[in-house]
Amino acid sequence: MDSRSEVTGRPASTGPTVPEAVRAAARRALTGADPALRQTFELRLERWWPDLASGIAEVYSGTPGEQLLLRLVSMAATAAARRDPDLRRMDEERTLRPDWFQAPGMVGYACYADRFAGDLAAVRENIDYLAELGVTYLHLMPVLRPREGDNDGGYAVADYRSLRPDLGTMADLRELAAALHERGISLVLDLVLNHVAREHEWAVRARAGEQRYRDYFYLFEDRTMPDAYERTLPEVFPDFAPGSFTWDDELSAWVWTTFNTFQWDVNWANPEVFAEYADLVLSLADEGVDVLRLDAIAFTWKRLGTSCQNQPEVHALTQALRALARIACPAVVFKAEAIVGPADLVHYLGRGAHHGRVSDLAYHNGLMVQVWSMLAAQDVRLAAHALRALPPVPTTTAWITYVRCHDDIGWAIDDADAAAVGLSGFAHRAFLSDWYSGRFWQSPARGLVFQANLATGDRRISGTAASLVGLEDAVERGDAQAVDAAVARLLLAHAVVMGWGGIPVLWSGDELGQPNDPAWDLEPGHADDNRWAGRPRLDPAARARRHQAGAVERRVFEGLAHLASVRGSLPHLHASVPAQVLSVDDPGVLAVLREHPLGPLLELVNVTTSWRPFPGRRLKELGLDGAPDALTGDVVHPQSDDNVWLAPLQVRWVVRP
Ligand code: GLC
Repeated sequence: MDSRSEVTGRPASTGPTVPEAVRAAARRALTGADPALRQTFELRLERWWPDLASGIAEVYSGTPGEQLLLRLVSMAATAAARRDPDLRRMDEERTLRPDWFQAPGMVGYACYADRFAGDLAAVRENIDYLAELGVTYLHLMPVLRPREGDNDGGYAVADYRSLRPDLGTMADLRELAAALHERGISLVLDLVLNHVAREHEWAVRARAGEQRYRDYFYLFEDRTMPDAYERTLPEVFPDFAPGSFTWDDELSAWVWTTFNTFQWDVNWANPEVFAEYADLVLSLADEGVDVLRLDAIAFTWKRLGTSCQNQPEVHALTQALRALARIACPAVVFKAEAIVGPADLVHYLGRGAHHGRVSDLAYHNGLMVQVWSMLAAQDVRLAAHALRALPPVPTTTAWITYVRCHDDIGWAIDDADAAAVGLSGFAHRAFLSDWYSGRFWQSPARGLVFQANLATGDRRISGTAASLVGLEDAVERGDAQAVDAAVARLLLAHAVVMGWGGIPVLWSGDELGQPNDPAWDLEPGHADDNRWAGRPRLDPAARARRHQAGAVERRVFEGLAHLASVRGSLPHLHASVPAQVLSVDDPGVLAVLREHPLGPLLELVNVTTSWRPFPGRRLKELGLDGAPDALTGDVVHPQSDDNVWLAPLQVRWVVRP
């Protein structure tokens, strides 16, 4: 019996060709389009159809899935036909160079437009500043119109099709994207796809009783199901938004709200929701966005009896969305924002059937946490073990590496990883919270505890990189030696993430060593959320001091710009080359090897405040005896005791030119 359907074509295992009904839908949408575009579209459809069809079939079986596929292909064809010529050129360019986002020259910067410069026009006027730092990727925090009042830093979107009025208009956004592109900088925007604001049109119409829109959300008449789900649901904001459901009088129902009560989770099991977001992807692509950051993607599929995170359907949905973008606007790539434990993390770049078919980029939360853990403990053993245990990721993808972002740091340290190096996961996490909130004896860190969870003992930490490494404390005390150590720690942390491959992303203000915002709680809607301490406005005086001899800002800014420029010159740092953490010889030294066909790059990182050895024999085995350190130009040789000695908090990138 032939089980093929009209729409899904042949079974995935034999590589489905595009069914005639789908081709016809595309042809109809492209009537009158230029023949070259029609041909390109057909080829892309052929290429990405298996990803699209199997992703959709995994989630929406039968007729609803088939109907959705026909709609999606028409939408993609319409979007391809209306695409601006400059963007279409970029589509071609990136199809020819699909590894553009993996290049070692990629360096990211993330900021709130208003806190960085003012509005979008002001961001455009500050492109030189970004270029001075070596930035090629700019993530602007939510710019789409959020609800009024508290809106979770813009992550409660009231309208995906207009901008925050104080930032400008869609036309300003397009102009900014074009200006960035001219300077070789790509634009990254958030697509919040787990929830909308209670004020979003879908939610308003659901509240007005329209069934079509009630079906966009998870609504429950009584507590039976919410209680059943909550038995296994972790709380994201236990302090200011306990529980995961909110009663709404107008709905006369409990609505699923993973985050704040005003952020309503949308129901991705409804194909109409998929179609809505597909349309949003295509329209954001029209504005010139290069990378879509899929916010809170881990939460988009719910399953009773689980944490409702990282469900397999999440990956099927991403695969289908990405295939759609590849067909319509291949210049656009996807970034997963899934801040999850090590075992779940690699799935966001694709494992098993989804290998290389989901997001192109994902945050390396595990590396970020280990950087802070190494610095506090002055010990690399846990980091080396945990990072070595991570399965390899597809060579077509890249990590977003970062020291910290706009969010708090949660100590995603696996109990088994901790046990493997003789630590208690619980105790180590508690130590890190104590260390970074400055409670631990002798800790110079000035982080703030975010969302202490009495049930789990978790205490996440907010703060700027400078405040966490002790720079704020050292500057305030006027202790020059402590300032030196803090600057060294800040640069070391960034050297690790810059040396990993992928796209290192700096958070605005960290390039100047800015401390926590002392007035973080004074702005309306911020008082309950100390993540704002770590999102200071860029300080113009600090910014000016980046050129002033002897200033801390200059040491930090120039140090980072130097790392970015050296990084750009090293093909070894292409994201397709895996970072291999070597077994540990000295507990204070992290050694990372990148084996490029051109030769090895060995990175040595001394996380302690004393001199530490690395065995000369290992350097020799790699053929790197006498090779220079790309960061300083020093020639690296073992000393008479056959060790390479690393100064306190020193990083070396040893590689033959
Ligand atoms: C992401 C954002 C965070 C926000 C959450 C809910 O994790 O980074 O700032 O609170 O999503 O949208």
